[in-house]
Amino acid sequence: MNAKRPYRICVLPGDGIGKEVIPATVMLLQSLPKNQIDFEFTYDEVGYGFYQKSGTPLKDETLEKVRASDAALFGAITTPPNIPDYFSVIIRLRQRLDLYSNLRPTRFYPIAGAREGVDLMIFRENTEGLYSGIERVEDDGNTAITERIITRKGSERIIRAAFEYAKKNSRKKVTLVHKANVLRESDGLFKRIGQEISSHYSSIRFEEMIVDAMAMRLIKDPENFDVIVTTNLFGDILSDEASMLCGGLGFAASGNIGDNCAIFEPVHGSAPDIAGKGIANPYATVLAAKMMLEYLDESGSAAKIDNAVIGALKVLVLTKELGGKYTTSQVIDELIKRIRE
Ligand code: NAI
Ligand code: MG
Repeated sequence: MNAKRPYRICVLPGDGIGKEVIPATVMLLQSLPKNQIDFEFTYDEVGYGFYQKSGTPLKDETLEKVRASDAALFGAITTPPNIPDYFSVIIRLRQRLDLYSNLRPTRFYPIAGAREGVDLMIFRENTEGLYSGIERVEDDGNTAITERIITRKGSERIIRAAFEYAKKNSRKKVTLVHKANVLRESDGLFKRIGQEISSHYSSIRFEEMIVDAMAMRLIKDPENFDVIVTTNLFGDILSDEASMLCGGLGFAASGNIGDNCAIFEPVHGSAPDIAGKGIANPYATVLAAKMMLEYLDESGSAAKIDNAVIGALKVLVLTKELGGKYTTSQVIDELIKRIRE
């Protein structure tokens, strides 16, 4: 519990269903007992709607607001087609705030098709690798090159973050995923740094796995994995693959974490096809808020939300796309009822 002051949370709903699932989740956070946890929410506009009004999807003051907050909640943004000066808000936030760890949990929840026993946390490097942004086309126009950058600094901090997470959460194993048999230099370095760092964590098992084998094993025996750490592109793909083991987009949450600030978001986009109808599934955003509470070391409040989610799913409190009849606000009402029980 934070006895000194309420947590300052910067809220960035964005576009489309971001404007529905984020306010709904804020209501849920506000229903947590005030004598245990309290928040001060500050809101800001980002995204395509804001661009149409102001000429930019993200103003510099917003970066400052996120920096000054204990954490931020981000909804989703719409990417408009063919606007040259439009940039991705979330990618800009990750770069400018140096949010180098992308965390993607996949865990069993009682929903149709979910794999029992799965409880994974993927740490994806968020700033370099094949997404370095360094690309060129040769003069003849027929050869395109993207540079894959792996640095000691970038590797050490993501691998250390994975081990520290494992230690703090009593996780048993860290699996480092690479393709060092082919990418000998870049992934050779990443793998070597993993071996070095693992020697400082004797109570945590360390294992290495080649990315193609990992893609198969995630389907075959996902319950055998615990914490996974990998480079940018591999993490991007494996985390989406993993999310399909336990409910897919509707339950996929993520955290973007740096040394000084963090942003939590659902993985899904702005869903323009259902926006404004009040039927968006809020669970992914609720689980992002739960991750935020864990990041703030508020495990008691995080567990309250988690138990409410499990309880609601057991009695099929589901939105339309999952075959249910509940609206966004009815799901949140059910969760609030369970938190207060
Ligand atoms: P999307 O995730 O918005 O939607 C894909 C499908 O899943 C749609 O049929 C949608 O209705 C459904 N869906 C997604 N979230 C849902 C929820 N919470 N409840 C119920 N149904 C849900 O992806 P799409 O359609 O490819 O992109 C739409 C816009 O969102 C695009 O402009 C895209 O660039 C943007 N986008 C933004 C992201 C972000 O802000 N991080 C991530 C992905 C896409
Ligand atoms: Mg998102």
